[in-house]
Amino acid sequence: MSTIATPRVMLARPTTSHTRAPRRAVIRAAGGKDKTEAITGVVFQPFEEVAPVLKDTSKSGALNDPRPEHSFARYSTWTETVEAAVNEQINVEYNISYVYHAISTYFDRDNVSLHGIAEYFRNESEEEKSHAQYLIDLQNTRGGRVKFNALVPPEANYDHPEKGDALYAFELALALEKLNYSKLLGLWEVADKNFRTRRPPSSFEDMLHEQVKDIKQVSDYVAQLRRIGKGHAVWHWDRALAEGKVDHRAVESPKA
Ligand SMILES: [Fe+2]
Repeated sequence: MSTIATPRVMLARPTTSHTRAPRRAVIRAAGGKDKTEAITGVVFQPFEEVAPVLKDTSKSGALNDPRPEHSFARYSTWTETVEAAVNEQINVEYNISYVYHAISTYFDRDNVSLHGIAEYFRNESEEEKSHAQYLIDLQNTRGGRVKFNALVPPEANYDHPEKGDALYAFELALALEKLNYSKLLGLWEVADKNFRTRRPPSSFEDMLHEQVKDIKQVSDYVAQLRRIGKGHAVWHWDRALAEGKVDHRAVESPKA
């Protein structure tokens, strides 16, 4: 039986001192000669500008600081005011999501049964939640700390004696979307003030643009439902909504 020599790759013995220069890998083939070479051919040298920062960080023990409020990523423009404003907006998005979820649940009741509207508000609830998640991701990316606040419990019933339930629900949604817009404007202004010479993250501006389009969509729905009134036509409107046949129109807004 013949034996096949297996190539072995061995690394240089690890150094015990942090002060020594980085070791090069030793690649040794079975039966061959030792060959010493740099793995990438690039030897990392800390930039002179970075060295004092590293020295300061290690002196303050920041790298080993387990406190959750300490951030490695945070830059001075992400002030406590910006952090608090983002947390406030997270709460607004969650609250609106909560109300839309309640409206969706109402329209899915066995004695209401307008499933197009129920599905619309279920999707909108998810969308508002995704806005909250977007701001959570932004806060974490910038080294801010997310703080969750309490939510206001929504109403269970959305029927209105004069308007009926569909118009009432969409008028409420329109009021909430406009409230959200004013809150987003406030967030943008806080960021603008705190970022001073730099522009605030474009994400805040993007959210404003999207909000303007959402307001127009809900406004279109309110206008249609006001024409329809309450009764049999609402059932047809609900079916059309379920099939994606309810018209609404909005253009890109360069300045929100
Ligand atoms: Fe939103």
